[in-house]
Amino acid sequence: MKNHDANLHVRGLSRFVDDFLAPDNTLHAAVKGSAIAHGAIMSIHHEKAEKHPGVRKIVLAKDVPGENQIGSIIQDEQLLADHEVHFISQPIAIVVAETPEQAREAVALIDIEYEEKPVITDPRVAAEKGQLIAPARTFSCGDTDTAWGKCDVVVSGTAASGGQEHLYLETQGCLAVLKEDGGLKLISSTQGPTAVQRIVARVLDLPMHKIEVDVLRLGGGFGGKEDQATAWATMAALAAYRVGQPVKLVLRRHEDMLMTGKRHPYSSDFKIGLTKDGKILAYEAIYYQNAGAAADLSTAILERTLFHSTNSYFIPNVKATALSCRTNLPPNTAFRGFGGPQAMFVIESAIAVAAEKMGVTPEVIQAKNLWQDGDATPYGQIMHECRIKSCWQEMAEKSNIKKLQQNVREFNANNTLVKKGFTMMPVTFGISFTNTALNQAGALVHVYNDGSVSISTGAVEMGQGVNSKLQQVAARVLGIDARRIRVDSTNTGRVANTSPTAASSGSDLNGHATRLACEQIQERLQCFASRLLDVERSKITFHDDKIWVDEMPQSLQWQELTDKAYWARVSLSAQAHYSTPNIHFDKNKEKGHPFAYYAYGVAATVVRLDCIRGTYKVESVDIVHDLGSSLSPKVDLGQIEGALMQGIGWMMMEDVVFSEQGRLLANTLSTYKIPDIYFAPESLRVHILENADHPAGLFHSKAIGEPPFMYGIGAWFALREAMKAYRQDVDVPFVAPFTPESVLMRIS
Ligand code: MTE
Ligand code: HPA
Ligand code: MOS
Repeated sequence: MKNHDANLHVRGLSRFVDDFLAPDNTLHAAVKGSAIAHGAIMSIHHEKAEKHPGVRKIVLAKDVPGENQIGSIIQDEQLLADHEVHFISQPIAIVVAETPEQAREAVALIDIEYEEKPVITDPRVAAEKGQLIAPARTFSCGDTDTAWGKCDVVVSGTAASGGQEHLYLETQGCLAVLKEDGGLKLISSTQGPTAVQRIVARVLDLPMHKIEVDVLRLGGGFGGKEDQATAWATMAALAAYRVGQPVKLVLRRHEDMLMTGKRHPYSSDFKIGLTKDGKILAYEAIYYQNAGAAADLSTAILERTLFHSTNSYFIPNVKATALSCRTNLPPNTAFRGFGGPQAMFVIESAIAVAAEKMGVTPEVIQAKNLWQDGDATPYGQIMHECRIKSCWQEMAEKSNIKKLQQNVREFNANNTLVKKGFTMMPVTFGISFTNTALNQAGALVHVYNDGSVSISTGAVEMGQGVNSKLQQVAARVLGIDARRIRVDSTNTGRVANTSPTAASSGSDLNGHATRLACEQIQERLQCFASRLLDVERSKITFHDDKIWVDEMPQSLQWQELTDKAYWARVSLSAQAHYSTPNIHFDKNKEKGHPFAYYAYGVAATVVRLDCIRGTYKVESVDIVHDLGSSLSPKVDLGQIEGALMQGIGWMMMEDVVFSEQGRLLANTLSTYKIPDIYFAPESLRVHILENADHPAGLFHSKAIGEPPFMYGIGAWFALREAMKAYRQDVDVPFVAPFTPESVLMRIS
């Protein structure tokens, strides 16, 4: 099926926040951020800025009518700083002017005096000083203390992974328009329309029903707009509220890079113990998460780190502790994988050290410890219909791992200055929000009496194809052509109390809600058709735009049926709510069954290293991925390819560098490099796991958004193997990303 938006995208007609025709009297906002990473605000001089041509108003913390507080999980983040600043570029003032240029010129004219305080950028230093966002958490099972004694090999080490800039094509932005009753309509580029609505209501001291948030689509979110679209939408709303005119606030790329949080860097310690035949008996890890200056989603991300501490492996004795550390950087936030990738990098590092010590390749250890049905995770969820071994085996057959490895060995034997490395990267990723309450969704479906259908849900289309999937769900249930179905914008007035579109669950949750709403309408129409045709309801089915009785097509067709139903006063609209069944988690015990199911897959990666220059090429990636029975194989393939590239970028080239004073140094696209088509693997083969029906899923499918991101971790370890093939004696610490300069420094 064609992507819901394909026609508009290829013609450049798709609209994003900055493309909407704003009312004629729309003003433009720009934001003045802190110049220092930590300190007290002594004075704010904005007289010059106020007199600048076109400037209408300077909005400060004192202009907030409600609470000056945008924290979602923990309320520790001011919308506009009043007395203290905690990171460079922290918003202090909003300038409203007639043009975006005037607003920015005026921002530069605001003069702020600070009294500087000590700056912390390192999470371990923050932990030492007791700067934690929340108390540390530990997931454990068995007893590691006694297990070490039973191990033949025990190794330990440290691992560190870096941040990552989301670099969505569409930067953060919002258009806020006042309504006649003092409420607001917000066109926001957010993954969480309800979050925006809730926070704007809190800041403006208005009831939520006065705030309407509408989202047509995003030019990418990747987690960066789950929580962090809210601040900009709230600033636009506050500005509009204060000046009494519509206000648009759209960040420029450079501002977006400076002002918004990124993936959390982690620094971690690990210890792993194995028997001499490679069974992992015990694993301990301590994760120091660099949260930045406010909580944002850090504690939820930390939790997912703990859930994925052992990646795809059963380990009977585990103790994993995680600390969310407060530093003077922009608050870090959700990014594809949500803390899972950071955990997986650590356990794969531990396995690499153990393999070296034991004189085997890491695959030997990986393969021996993969999950099987009946295994308990450290948090108590029992593996069920586990497919990680099937993926591994299918990879062994389909891609001929032995031959890949053989080629690498032969190549390395015959070349001295160019070396190759090979690795396997298994991924097991839990599907559901780890916060059980968020696993709910709503849908509102209207069938019009010309047979066309409109769907509204809480799902936000950000390029991941959720609208195509929703369209397909409705087409299947109603038995009609997908072209009759339109997915409407995401609007808090049509579907309320929504969870953000995140956790790879957007399509699952909203798809189920859409299914339930369509089933209600289908049931009513079946009853009506049974009266009309005078046949038993059970004999009636709908498909191919027709009405069938005992699988015989009737002259009565879908369009006519909907019209007749309308005139007979049958309701053609339905609302439905879906909540994932049988999930729970007890934070006191740190045990439960948090995930509806898991997504599984394996990647085999070969990297080729130029040992003189430190440059490298990802030569091939072979993937076997479990999609269940895919709803939209083309959409899913796009997700796998995109996520893989984003994962490789995180591990290999995207280097978020801050100075010790907390200043972002990689703050343009000339200093912050992301993968492009030339960086893509020379060969990328994706196999969808066969015979992998998933009856519990939405039309037997599985979620896809985040899991393939973690295949990118394989490229890091493959490159490390290539470095080791060149120089066995060098120490290659587990520090990502592996930029060519960092590679060269290690091996030359
Ligand atoms: N794909 C595109 N093209 N753009 C995005 O912003 N976000 C990812 C993933 N795929 C994203 C994407 C993230 S972080 C998540 S959680 C899921 O899509 C969200 O959508 P889903 O729940 O419908 O899979
Ligand atoms: N994943 C993504 N986003 C979230 C989650 C999660 O598990 N929990 C809260 N927000
Ligand atoms: Mo995705 S990081 O859960 O928005």
